[in-house]
Amino acid sequence: MSMNYRSSIASVQAVALDDENNSLVILDQTLLPNEKKYISLSEQKDIWEAIYSLRVRGAPAIGIAAAYGAYLGIKASKASAYGDLLKDFTEVKNYLASSRPTAVNLFWALNRMELRLKMEKGKSADEIKSALKDEAESIRKEDEEVCKAIGKFGLTLLKPGWGILTHCNAGTIATSRYGTALAPVYLGEELGYNFKVFADETRPLLQGARLTAWELKEAGIDVTLICDNMASIIMKEGKIQAVLVGCDRVAANGDTANKIGTSGVAVLAKYYGIPFYVCAPMSTIDLNCNTGRDIHIELRPDDEITEKWYSRRMAPEGVKVYNPCFDVTDNQLITAIITQKGIIYPPFSDNLASLFKEQDTLGKEKIVE
Ligand code: MRU
Repeated sequence: MSMNYRSSIASVQAVALDDENNSLVILDQTLLPNEKKYISLSEQKDIWEAIYSLRVRGAPAIGIAAAYGAYLGIKASKASAYGDLLKDFTEVKNYLASSRPTAVNLFWALNRMELRLKMEKGKSADEIKSALKDEAESIRKEDEEVCKAIGKFGLTLLKPGWGILTHCNAGTIATSRYGTALAPVYLGEELGYNFKVFADETRPLLQGARLTAWELKEAGIDVTLICDNMASIIMKEGKIQAVLVGCDRVAANGDTANKIGTSGVAVLAKYYGIPFYVCAPMSTIDLNCNTGRDIHIELRPDDEITEKWYSRRMAPEGVKVYNPCFDVTDNQLITAIITQKGIIYPPFSDNLASLFKEQDTLGKEKIVE
């Protein structure tokens, strides 16, 4: 694929390292779309809180933030012997790993940092710290290339002028750049494809309304916001030719965990005969999970549903609330999984396994959560 892309993507970086000031800099996504504010985090507890509270969010961005966080944690260590450094690292790693359970990128990135540390055994503490900084920077830089590759493969499945439905935010602010599900949209825009994107608002945390609608509008892309319960009508009206979503974890059989509501969109897409594509960096594919039943689904606080985005409470006091943050889309509802290495079609069990056989990276190491 040799194409010339004009640059139209919103110039916003979700996560960066400020090494001089020993801090992680993130765009605070809880304030969007009303305020575009960067915050500096130097304490481990603040980095943990930023991930837990979704100030930094989206599977790849969480991984990048954790990698930088782990580096900053080890940079602050006073240890000089390898064994003591490893002990301090393990403490930081376990702490950051406890922030959110579903996006496997968090564990993938922390494990990759740990492997790098182990590879540096025998070197001085300063050399090990510098290697960990390089590793975290590589995780961020590689993610941009990965997203761009997903975008290029994804674009081969789409035609100019198409209506595209997306759920949650799998855009540039959920990654290093380009996003996963929005990467084909950005690259298509640069080639004049003029997609019409429909963004589900994504109850209860409104990532579609607050983030996807914001970043696409910033980039000058045609975006229409709908409530989650309007997906069926726009599909029936013929406005949607493809669904593109991101993911937090893909099991070995292709079952995919993504933002709550994704599986409902997939059911609708199947009913209306619309292709449903999952955009997945290989760091989000977890062959240690056999099926979606093995994926730990995060439960979030009740108030996200009853009051968080309202000026006053909108549910009776004491009502029982169930707030799963993700759901699993059955592999049978997925047309294809778009990775940086190519487009994977069913049977997913065989084809995902072959994809990893060809891959020789730290990422295929067993994930320890
Ligand atoms: O709870 P969030 O906002 O972190 O959930 C994010 C998603 O569900 C995204 O679709 C997924 O992480 C992919 S981001 C490229």
